[in-house]
Amino acid sequence: MYTQGLDLVSGGGKPEAPKSEEEARLEAEFQKKIDAEIRIEPTDWMPEGYRRTLIRQISQHAHSEIVGMLPEGNWVTRAPTLRRKAILLAKIQDEAGHGLYLYSACETLGVDRHELYEQLLAGKAKYSSIFNYPTLTWADIGIIGWLVDGAAIMNQVPLQRCSYGPYARAMIRICKEESFHQRQGYELCMALAEGSPEQRRMLQDALDRWWWPILMMFGPPDKDSWHTAQSMKWKIKRFTNDELRQKFVDAVVPQAERLGLRIPDPHLRWNPERGHYDFGEVPWDEFWRVIKGDGPCNRQRLEQRRRAWEEGRWVREAALAHAEKRRRRQSEAA
Ligand SMILES: [Fe+2]
Ligand SMILES: [Fe+2]
Repeated sequence: MYTQGLDLVSGGGKPEAPKSEEEARLEAEFQKKIDAEIRIEPTDWMPEGYRRTLIRQISQHAHSEIVGMLPEGNWVTRAPTLRRKAILLAKIQDEAGHGLYLYSACETLGVDRHELYEQLLAGKAKYSSIFNYPTLTWADIGIIGWLVDGAAIMNQVPLQRCSYGPYARAMIRICKEESFHQRQGYELCMALAEGSPEQRRMLQDALDRWWWPILMMFGPPDKDSWHTAQSMKWKIKRFTNDELRQKFVDAVVPQAERLGLRIPDPHLRWNPERGHYDFGEVPWDEFWRVIKGDGPCNRQRLEQRRRAWEEGRWVREAALAHAEKRRRRQSEAA
């Protein structure tokens, strides 16, 4: 997972007024490289706004990966078969790996990952709103794989062409893994769809609860997304939030039909003139509430992350002490 185009807070993304002629020249050269699709690398000159936008976006993405492990972790001990448990464990471990690549990509921009963790644990950093919803039944695990990871792919495939090299390269491997996540989720949903009437009801109930929060994953509507235009100019973003949301709806409606599921939106219908599905208004009030910290599980998620951080303290300290001992032995031997 999962970026959300959460371009909501000030303090990032806006290009600074050039301070000097030299800076104006550098900035023009920078934009020329971007326009020519030349990747920006960590040691290249970049405008401060570009760096800040990337730090914000990549760290939100990293936080989303590791917070996203929690709702699924809730079902590891209750997976119905050994096969399902192995798949779920592998998927959750992948998400931890995604967090690691992304924190590393962020560090190439000159920020320390501990600083980023601290922002998350202090409740100052954002992560994808979707992980503040509870996983009430086993069907939720199928819906998350199929649709939450499916939405993540929609977001992340264009990020493989992001102008910043380390982020784009991290995305290539992440997208391959997300595609496995999406397929295992759909396969789980297929098993339930072909199961008993009770299993089918459970699946429909999960879709009913998750549908609108999943559409919120693409971020606020374009008219409320402050930095989209600048991010598109810098080729950090290739599509707007609304464009990605539309692509997602167009892709998943036929998949839902194949499962015999009903999308919980009375306004959803194919529009032959547009060549797209029309759909109803996303409940944005709920989105803003969850983003501001008042979703069903916000407190619980941060609490779990804080506990993991505290309980892992001795491991980090032991690893550092071990590394220090080895370094000392090596220098003594030399
Ligand atoms: Fe992921
Ligand atoms: Fe995933």
